[in-house]
Parts: sequence; structure tokens; C-alpha cells
Amino acid sequence: MTTHTANTAVHPAWLPDAALAPLRTRTVAVLGEGVCLDTVRAELADARPAAPAEATLAVARLDASDAAAGTSDLAAALGLDPGALPTLPASGFAIVRTAGRAVVLGADDAAALRGLYALAREHAVAALRSEPHPDGVTTSAPAMPLRMLDHWDNMTVHPVMGQVERGYSGGSIFFADGEVRTDLSRVRAYARLLAATGIDAVALNNVNVHAREARLLTDGLPDVARVAAQLRAYGIRTFLSVSFGSPRLLGGLDTNDPLDPGVAAWWAEAANAVYDVVPDFGGFLVKADSEGQPGPFAYGRSHADGANVLAAALAPHGGTVLWRAFVYNHTQDWRDRSTDRARAAYDHFAPLDGAFADNVIVQVKHGPMDFQVREPLSPVIAAMPRTRVALELQVTQEYTGHQRHVCYLAPAWREYLTFPLDGERTVAEIVAGTPGGGAGQARPSHPAGGIAAVSNVGDDEFWTGHPLAQANLYAFGRLAWDPTLEPDAVLEEWIALTFAGAGPAALPRIRAALHAVMAGSWLRYEGYTAPLGVGFMVTPGTHYGPSVDGYEYSPWGTYHFADRDGVGVDRTRATGTGYTGQYPAPWRDVYESRRTCPDELLLFFHHVPYDHVLHSGKTVIQHVYDSRADAVAELDDVDAQWESLADLVGTAIPTALDTRVRERLAEQRRSAVEWRDQVRSYFFRKSGVPDATGRRIY
Ligand code: GCU
Repeated sequence: MTTHTANTAVHPAWLPDAALAPLRTRTVAVLGEGVCLDTVRAELADARPAAPAEATLAVARLDASDAAAGTSDLAAALGLDPGALPTLPASGFAIVRTAGRAVVLGADDAAALRGLYALAREHAVAALRSEPHPDGVTTSAPAMPLRMLDHWDNMTVHPVMGQVERGYSGGSIFFADGEVRTDLSRVRAYARLLAATGIDAVALNNVNVHAREARLLTDGLPDVARVAAQLRAYGIRTFLSVSFGSPRLLGGLDTNDPLDPGVAAWWAEAANAVYDVVPDFGGFLVKADSEGQPGPFAYGRSHADGANVLAAALAPHGGTVLWRAFVYNHTQDWRDRSTDRARAAYDHFAPLDGAFADNVIVQVKHGPMDFQVREPLSPVIAAMPRTRVALELQVTQEYTGHQRHVCYLAPAWREYLTFPLDGERTVAEIVAGTPGGGAGQARPSHPAGGIAAVSNVGDDEFWTGHPLAQANLYAFGRLAWDPTLEPDAVLEEWIALTFAGAGPAALPRIRAALHAVMAGSWLRYEGYTAPLGVGFMVTPGTHYGPSVDGYEYSPWGTYHFADRDGVGVDRTRATGTGYTGQYPAPWRDVYESRRTCPDELLLFFHHVPYDHVLHSGKTVIQHVYDSRADAVAELDDVDAQWESLADLVGTAIPTALDTRVRERLAEQRRSAVEWRDQVRSYFFRKSGVPDATGRRIY
């Protein structure tokens, strides 16, 4: 018996009716054509129609030609002074507020839709703060040209990984029982949520492309087109993860060699077929020569050769290849101390700078290892000034508590995005291709890439397993649009929208409690798990819960080298793997020296004795003991804060949501205590150094 219908009882997340109500009670006019303007009309279907000049809410598309002409017709139609029409940047929108009216103008129809949701957000935040929004013009445009979510969804249920690889929110919203779902209403609701954050691209299937999913590119195309139609209505383009092995697997060729003319022709035909049914198709996402996926190395070809054959196929249609830099040896001998997994992406990709086609974007994980709670930024991001680079983040909480632990990740992402990686430009500026940093810079701008993240969504009733993990999805979209936003302000927006119906008495209490629970939760999670940037002390396979030596004697290249005298990986140029040499100044020297290396990354870069004194003034071993205890102790306040909202359950806070949050908080505490005790005991037994405060260590 197949179940092709999506779970219909779905939490409205950050777009409850209450958040849209202030717009729907106005008199409304929507001007212009376009699929997203039809969506605007549907959002406002309950509102009373009015002539544009009289409407208290007008939404219009302001084409470049209008703007150039001083745009008298549109201004007149809207009842605005022609001088009041702003100049819109590409993909941007403006909200013009005058005396009780709001006019939303989009540079294209998707931008107009995003402007409408931005107006709802402004209303919600103003209500939360009890301050009316001032009159005037606000203009907004995306910092990143590509703002993408990657789904690691499989069509069938994988025996080990489940249906969604590293998914903690149930099954796929796209696929069920080996097929694309018949009922795509859930996909449509998802697209709506994403549009309100600014996301404009979604890859439907897992980067590990299994046999069934590979065929999405061929006989699955009519179904891909159905999904694309849902996403298109919200200004989102569809991408597919494809297997580099497709020519052999799907086409029956005897090679996947990217320089073979038959292979090139096969890819060109495959691309033509996609664009026949999805004319605005975004392109391909590729994981090649990585963790068992096929790739160009088998033919003695480079990753530029591999990417460029796909790029040539997509180029006539305007499509893009997102080619992942996550390439390393996953069958390493743990006895081999000369191979350093952290070096791998740079060693493979930096020499290829300038060799990739213009429609290739190299997608680089934020850290050199694999989405650990604390890693330095990947040096690859700054190493390829002639290559389009996208930053890859993980919204799904693979290494940050599986959406059972509260872990609001925006503070981490903001730290990455604002990090001046090449000494002049931030990571956000590098991947966005903006000059940044002011005049007199020595370095040229990089070409524009973008930002992508692994989605945390499934067919769970709350979308994300932990209801509070919705905030991570929201925050990713908002930071992709504007990387300079403050994580606390984004959290405030999310609270204002999600609980828009809570009412003026409850809302400030919810705000206060959720800030206390969520704002510092990333550092808290770091506090009770692996210390000082060392990483990978997780249960092998699942990556949930502690296992300090779980990966220590494995082939994965993820070691901490703890012994009786010390812990950490020597990645210096002087005595270690030389990884610090992959960084530009000043970081190559900052990280090289124990004296200047930041505490939180010390064990990533250095092997130190347990009595090494940190900048904080504590020894490494005492830091291990204290931080784990302090972080667990903070959970008392987390529980108390949620408990303080108990009288709102059933009214401002849905009962089912409260039940889910409580269940997760209990598991977080259990797991955090386990982390604290295992990590402390491990290092006590290795080092023999007692806790200076005399606490019991098992
Ligand atoms: C991690 C993760 C895998 C995933 C891989 C990737 O290793 O555990 O499930 O496939 O990253 O990013 O490709």
C-alpha cells in the first residue's frame, strides 16, 4: 500500500495566518503579470480589491524600463509621486510607506513576492516591539546571487541512513515509496516558507546519488517538472544532484571519461531533455571522487575536467554546475601520521584555480573537515580568486545534536560569514563577489558564487523534528540574503512571526524565554561536547552522542591523538602536517603559534600537554572539566525558561508543540550529561590529573 499523500497536519512555522492577517485586512491591488504575482494574489485573496491608487496595500513589479523612464505610468497608477519610486537593485524589492499605505515594488515578480513577506515580517516585529513601523522607503536586495538548500533526500529508504541522509525530521517531503509524491501540497507550503526567507534554489535529492535517484535525470523528468512547478510559484529554481557515473549507468556507455566526446554528447543530450520540461532548471549538484561516489580521478582527469563537461552541457540553457570540494581519502590508515584530511580539499582544488568554466561554482564546506561544532574556516574559500565559490553550511544538525538538542546555529554562521579570511575580505564578501573592505585593497574581487546549506526539513508535523530547529532554517535564508544581520535580531524576527498570534500579553514573555533558551545554545552545545576544536568524538555512523575514541583507529582521517601526556593535532608548518600554510596572512601565522592561536581552535592546530595554559588562564585539562559542567548546569535555566511558559500552553503555544519541546529538552539533558561524564572521565583516565575543584569524575 503506497502512501503518496503528504502529512497534512503541518505547523505553519513562520507564516501563520496571524502573520499575514494585517495585510489581508487591507484594501489591495496587485499590478503586473508573472507566476509569483499570481502567488501574491493568492496570498491576498481574502483582501478587498481596490483601484491601485486607492489601495492601502499595492504590490507591483517595477521593471527596469519603468524605472528608466522616470516611470510616470506606474507611479500614477499607484497614486505615488514619480520621484517616490525607488531604483531597485537586481532581484531587490522596496517597500514605500506613506500615511497608512504600503506599496511593495519588486525588480521582478519573485522579488515582489519576497517584498510582500518582508512587509509581513516588519509588521510582526513592530507588533512584538510595540512600535509602529516608521514611514519611508526601505530597499532590500540579496547579498548572495545564489541562496540554495540541498536536500539529502533519497527516493527509497536506505537501510542505514533512512530516507533522508542525516535527516532528523521524518521522511522526504518530495519522495515516497520510490516515487515523487503525487500530492505536492507540502512542497508548496515549504516553498512558501523559503520564499519568505529569500532562498531561491533547491536541490531535490541526496549528493550520494543511488541508482533509483540517478534516474530522476531521465525517466523521472516529468515528476521533476511537477516539483519544479510548485517551487517556481515561489521564485525558487530546481536543481538535481547527479551521478558523475551517469553516462555508463544510465546511457550504457563504456566510460564516464569527461574528455570522451561520447560522454560530452551524452551530457548535452541529458541537459537538453531536462530543459525541455523545466525551462528554468537551475543545474546540477555533484559529489565526485568522494566517499565512494564516482569521479574523474578514475580516468586520470582533474576535477576541472569533470565539472567542465557538465558545465558545457548546461551552458546553452543558462544552467550552473555546483561541484563540491569535499574530496579526501576516506580509507586512510590511522597509523599514517603524514596524511591530514584537513589539507585534502585545498590540495585537490587550489591548483585548479582558473581552470573551471564560468558556469561552475565550487561548493566548499565551511570547515576543512566536516561540519563539526567548531572548525576554522576552510582555506579553500580564499584560495581560488579566479573561481566562483559557494560556502556550504549544514542546517540539518548532523554533528550538533540531531534536532534533539536545541542548537541555534545563526551565531556560528554569522561568525563564518563575517570572518576576514583573506585578511581583507570577509567570507561573505568573497563568495558574494563583492569588493568589500573599502578602498585601497590589494586583492581583486572574486567572481560571484553563493551560499548553500543542507536542509533540516522532512515530513514531520513540525517540519524539523525539534520545533525550535525551524529557527535554523529561517536564519539560514535570512543570512544568505543579508550576512550582516545579527543572529539575535533574526531570532527576534522568527519569534515575532512564528508566535504572531500569541497576543500582546504573551508575546514578550515568549520572546524572553526563547532568547534565553536559544541565543547561546550553539556555545552551550560546544561546551558539553568535544573541547577546543578537536572534533569527531561522536558515535561512529550515527554521529549522535559521545564516543571519544570512536573514530580514533578508523579509516576516516578524523583523529585527536590523545595520550597520557596531551591531546590535539599538530597541523603546524614547523613540526606538523603543514596545514597552517594553506591560509593567507595573517591566519597562517596566527594559527601556527600556540601563543596566538585562539583557545577554541587550539586542539585543531596543536598537540599540547594537559597542563598547557589557555588564554583564559585555565589549563587544558581544567577547561575540559569545567566547561562540560558549566554547559550542563545551564540546562537548568533552559528548562526553567520553557517551564515559565506553561500557562500559555493550549492558547499562545500549541499543546503538541509544547509536548514535543519537552520531550526533546529531556533528551538533551540526558545526552548532555552523558557527554559531560564520558569526556571528563576519558581525559581524567588518560591524564591522571584530578579536577582542581574536587568534583566527582567517574
Ligand atoms: C558527511 C556525512 C555524509 C555526507 C557527507 C557529504 O560525511 O556524514 O552523510 O554524505 O558528509 O557531505 O557528502
